[in-house]
Amino acid sequence: MPILGLEDHIVDLDAYRRTVRRFKELGVLLPTFAELAEPTRIPKAVLDRLEAVGADDPDPLNLFRAHWYNGADRTSLAEVPGHLVVPEELSGVEARIVLLLGDRFPMIRSHKVLATYGCLAPRIVTGQFDPSLHKAVWPSTGNYCRGGVAVSRLMGCRGVAVLPAGMSRERFQWLERWVADPGDVVRTPGRESNVKEIYDRCAELSLEPGNVIFNQFSEFGNHLVHYLSTGSAAQAVFEAMRRREPSLRLRAFVSASGSAGTLGAGDHLKETYGSLIVAAEALECPTLLRNGFGEHNIQGIGDKHVPLIHNVHNTDIVTAVSDRATDQLAVLFGSETGRQYLSRRRKVPPEVLEGLDHLGLSSICNLLAAVKTAKHLRLGPDDVVVSVATDGAEMYESERARVLERDFGGELDELAAAEAFGRHVLGASCDDLLETTREDRARIFNLGYYTWVEQQGVTVEDFEARREQSWWRALRSRIARWDEMIIELNERTGVSAG
Ligand SMILES: Cc1ncc(COP(=O)(O)O)c(C=O)c1O
Repeated sequence: MPILGLEDHIVDLDAYRRTVRRFKELGVLLPTFAELAEPTRIPKAVLDRLEAVGADDPDPLNLFRAHWYNGADRTSLAEVPGHLVVPEELSGVEARIVLLLGDRFPMIRSHKVLATYGCLAPRIVTGQFDPSLHKAVWPSTGNYCRGGVAVSRLMGCRGVAVLPAGMSRERFQWLERWVADPGDVVRTPGRESNVKEIYDRCAELSLEPGNVIFNQFSEFGNHLVHYLSTGSAAQAVFEAMRRREPSLRLRAFVSASGSAGTLGAGDHLKETYGSLIVAAEALECPTLLRNGFGEHNIQGIGDKHVPLIHNVHNTDIVTAVSDRATDQLAVLFGSETGRQYLSRRRKVPPEVLEGLDHLGLSSICNLLAAVKTAKHLRLGPDDVVVSVATDGAEMYESERARVLERDFGGELDELAAAEAFGRHVLGASCDDLLETTREDRARIFNLGYYTWVEQQGVTVEDFEARREQSWWRALRSRIARWDEMIIELNERTGVSAG
């Protein structure tokens, strides 16, 4: 199968025909990318039928909830995507930091469901993936493989999760409930940054006929779906804020990079507002910052390589956040004592304290990276920095218990809460932050050569083409083309909204 996932015509007509038959039998209707970016385009008949479907039900209609506009109840449709505006009392900076809420996505409570649809749908409509014959293999350190298993099931496909055995217990419990067979959860050695081991296992799995590996690091559908959906969701939130306060300016989009898919939203926002793109990573694994490597616990990011879908030459700032900070703040934000401290001493409003439930480890990383960016750029009260809360705190209960023992002797008192907040938030500095020069970007870009050309079989021509912004702009025509193909497939299956 071609590596980049960019085909825009039917590659295998027999597979395509079998897919049409299967979707017809199972009643699978596919949403277009445009509908997921702007859910008001979803036919009313679909929205009406969705009312009877729970947000976590394995019902194909839930594909129509793979967007940022789910309401707080995760079933209704909101006018503006759910978001948390982090005030100065919590961030320590005057700039407005805004986090889009990923835990309102269906099934997995993380925006990675969008990435998996962005990878699988184009392969289906081009006849490259046959749900009746193939297994979709989803290598990841957590949410992407859960999203992949969920979206596969909704689309009548068999999904296989490949992830390190050291990931959080909550992730495995979820997977056990969703896979068709316990053997569809494949555990590889290590933890968050052991991506090489995942690749190695996938190389073995790819030898078995019928397995199709969906590599989020090289599938451009991942970049494109975020470019369109996450980019326009961030835009909608900013515009809603600006309607109330016309002096606001969007200055930066921040995202901790796992596959670098989410960073695609930054390309969209830069084109619209001229805002900067900030890639964050774990300080314990500073690959972009220093060609570094290492173990860390910011689950979902930082995999010791530069993803093929990372538009490195469009990245303005690279910064790193320590996993000590994210671990300890997760404990602080999740505990009664920590919240009392934030309320009494820092005067953090109650609705913001409640909003902390939406912040998983990488969301806290994004928050801290936004704080560092605001400090570095000396942003003021009219400046807005947008980022995402990829998943919520609920995914990390077992991690918080572990860190409470490790770092706080089993109990967080108010003094320890104050120390942690002072050190990690108020004390967040502009260290470990690089405003990238042309030379820096070339260094980061070139590092990707060893993964993609030497190990993964990408041609030098394909690798090099990504240096040019014109190449990335040309990519975008794929979205409209895939939408045409989605509409055509729906017509052929005859599955209707009503
Ligand atoms: C919890 C979490 N945070 C952040 C990310 C990074 O997002 P992306 O892969 O789009 O860079 C992921 C990716 O899987 C994730 O699961």
